[in-house]
Amino acid sequence: MQSEQKDITILGIETSCDETAAAVVTNGRQVRSSVVASQTELHEKYGGVVPEIASRAHIENIYPVLREALDQAGVRGEDLDAIAIANQPGLTIALVVGVTTAKTLAFTWGKPLIAINHLHAHLQSAMLSAEQIELPAVALVVSGGHTSLYDCESPLELTLLGSTTDDAAGEAFDKVATILRLPYPGGPSIERLAKQGNPKAIRFPRSMLGKDSLDFSFSGLKTAVLYHCRGQDMKGADRVAEMSEQEVADIAASFQAAVIDVLVKKSKRAADRIGAKTVLLGGGVAANGTLRDALRTMCERGRPPRRLLVAPKQYCTDNAVMVASLAYHKYQAGLFADLSLEPSPTG
Ligand code: KG4
Ligand code: ZN
Repeated sequence: MQSEQKDITILGIETSCDETAAAVVTNGRQVRSSVVASQTELHEKYGGVVPEIASRAHIENIYPVLREALDQAGVRGEDLDAIAIANQPGLTIALVVGVTTAKTLAFTWGKPLIAINHLHAHLQSAMLSAEQIELPAVALVVSGGHTSLYDCESPLELTLLGSTTDDAAGEAFDKVATILRLPYPGGPSIERLAKQGNPKAIRFPRSMLGKDSLDFSFSGLKTAVLYHCRGQDMKGADRVAEMSEQEVADIAASFQAAVIDVLVKKSKRAADRIGAKTVLLGGGVAANGTLRDALRTMCERGRPPRRLLVAPKQYCTDNAVMVASLAYHKYQAGLFADLSLEPSPTG
């Protein structure tokens, strides 16, 4: 007689940057609830995340967000099998709010605690739709803080192949949006405007860092956009205010094309190197439709063609579904944390 497997229901918590999120997920894929309190409005006027403001907002939001996630899922603490928390990487004073909350719940409810790497969780979002992944697989995480390529053997076995040496891809989008006087966060603003622009209008530099490198560098590109707007010596007037909308759209489209070109070429380089059959894409920048399309084309044209797995758009930017989902694999593997768990900014 086949024994029936018990459902595993996990509460995930995410506070690594500027989103306070909680989610309840059963068996790693069945999303019972997902609540995200975004702090975009608080950070907008600074053009980036202010850690102190983020931390205070997490403290304010964490209990209402948890309440809503549990209510929407129709579960109580005693129904849960584990509490999962993204404890790295991120802003320490933001992470600590979630870590302390998760430890307190695990302690009070007598549930196991699971520590999750936020970047690995972003990739888990890409695996949500797939029953099985054909290996080897290359995984690209593109977020506000990171641009990383991994050799992915399973949700829990990720070997770093390369990462950014300066600005992350999302950070470059945000900084260029500030230069172009577009609203924060920059990624969605640039993507929107780029749709009206010509991606070939300006040939911005593509930094490949040598023919074998799998690392990334986006700060030169950001500076090139700045020089384009202010002149090579930075002594010229900031022309953006006087530019036509078409001129700004052309800059946005040309910048976006340069970032995507590098991301696609490096992903192909990594995929060729390890003979990847699958390419995974996750992180906030993965919400970008032009990037998704470009990677899909790269995969379809591969010899042999590769399968592209992309995070659903609502799970590209920070959320707790990805935390609870990855925690299911750690639960199955018996990988638990204890109550001495601390936040780790670098991961
Ligand atoms: O993963 P995420 O929510 O937070 C971090 O872990 O950093 O990523 C946020 C980043 C921001 O830099 C934002 O501008 C970028 O993702 N982003 C986008 C898009 N949507 C969000 N970048 C390009 N195109 C988008 N549609
Ligand atoms: Zn993130």
